[in-house]
Amino acid sequence: MPGIIVVGSQWGDEGKGKVVDVFSAQADFVVRYQGGANAGHTLVVNGVKTVLHLVPSGILHPKTVCIIAAGVVLDIEEVTSEINALKEAGLIQNPEQLRISDSATVLLTYHRKIDQAREKALGHEKIGTTGRGIGPAYEDRAARQAILFGDLFDPATLKEKLTASLKEKNFLLESYYKTEPVAVEPLYKRLLQLADELAPYRCKDASTMIHRALKSGKKVLFEGAQGTMLDLLHGTYPYVTSSSTLSGSACVGSGIGPNSVQKIIGITKAYTTRVGSGPFPTELEGDLGERIRKEGAEFGATTGRPRRCGWLDLVAMKYAIRVNGITNLALMKLDVLSGHDKIEVCTAYRLDGQEIKDLPTSSAELSRIEPIYKSLAGWSEDITQVRSIQDLPQAARDYVQFIATELATPIDVVSVGPGREQTLWIKPLFN
Ligand code: IMP
Repeated sequence: MPGIIVVGSQWGDEGKGKVVDVFSAQADFVVRYQGGANAGHTLVVNGVKTVLHLVPSGILHPKTVCIIAAGVVLDIEEVTSEINALKEAGLIQNPEQLRISDSATVLLTYHRKIDQAREKALGHEKIGTTGRGIGPAYEDRAARQAILFGDLFDPATLKEKLTASLKEKNFLLESYYKTEPVAVEPLYKRLLQLADELAPYRCKDASTMIHRALKSGKKVLFEGAQGTMLDLLHGTYPYVTSSSTLSGSACVGSGIGPNSVQKIIGITKAYTTRVGSGPFPTELEGDLGERIRKEGAEFGATTGRPRRCGWLDLVAMKYAIRVNGITNLALMKLDVLSGHDKIEVCTAYRLDGQEIKDLPTSSAELSRIEPIYKSLAGWSEDITQVRSIQDLPQAARDYVQFIATELATPIDVVSVGPGREQTLWIKPLFN
């Protein structure tokens, strides 16, 4: 079955949005299956920039059906304003372009408030969340208290669930975090209003819709958010997000079996970035880190925070390939590395004097490791105008080849800039 999963293989912000936008030209469906408005996918088409947080990045292709599946925490205000902006820009002309699963978890103002209050209370120990309420919304889902998207269309159930939820949340907000509570009635009225606006996008059974598409041979792309190292179970816990960011989550979050998946594409930058707190073995703190941040415009699409920057970490990449079952890679932002005399790549770590080749899973060990680098020659040419792999400078080609060989995984796509046209294909997407 022609299902392809696109996952981030680092700490998020790898350029998944661009890849999904480019791939969507060949896809019939694009499914977003986890995360929420903590993600920020930046797309540049004909020089025009669009930042999406919830709507799948396939939306810029009018014939592609975009689905927000059950595994997503749906910030209801954010998705409405995103849809309205896309409508105004003429990018959503028909509501059939976007389907929202009745089973998605609704994320409300109080989730954001709790997330922000909790981070404030943690002080120096904070996770560095995006403050978008992601953790508290997934907590509600796990506690079986979540309001689902389908509930918005049943006023009695909505009122009942909202009242019950706010009883507990307001106790927490007022008594523990000493902040303002949230009133039931105005929020209830607002939700009924939003339900009217969002009704045309409602999809009662997204899992069946995706299954039928796959069964009839339609090309379906599953768009991941965040990255492997932010996975709730297998990332650098506790400095992670609250969903599973791994490829397996595509199946769980959208309600399909793993046998529907043909390919798993890991997206990686030619270097590494991370936002928020937590271990980052190859982080460059001095001028070099600053230079990459500036040249790569490494500032969060959601929060505007400067991203921490460092060299490519092949130990972490090997881990990502293993836990996701990545079959192919897309190498993004190669152009950002132009102009360096030499480029370092981390090929192993040193832990307590010993060389190790595997990522430690304990956070105590992770904080003690030091990267071991291999130096490769850099290139001075601007490569943003290059349109085929053969035309890259030899040193850039050697860099790409070195990564593919070390990781024993083919690189299918190399990106040399934000535009659709700045994409060098080595292999086609769908077989
Ligand atoms: P949360 O997902 O907002 O709870 O944040 C938890 C951690 O994940 C923080 O370190 C965030 O900076 C990080 N994070 C969440 N979403 C993204 C993303 O889309 N890109 C990069 N980092 C993210």
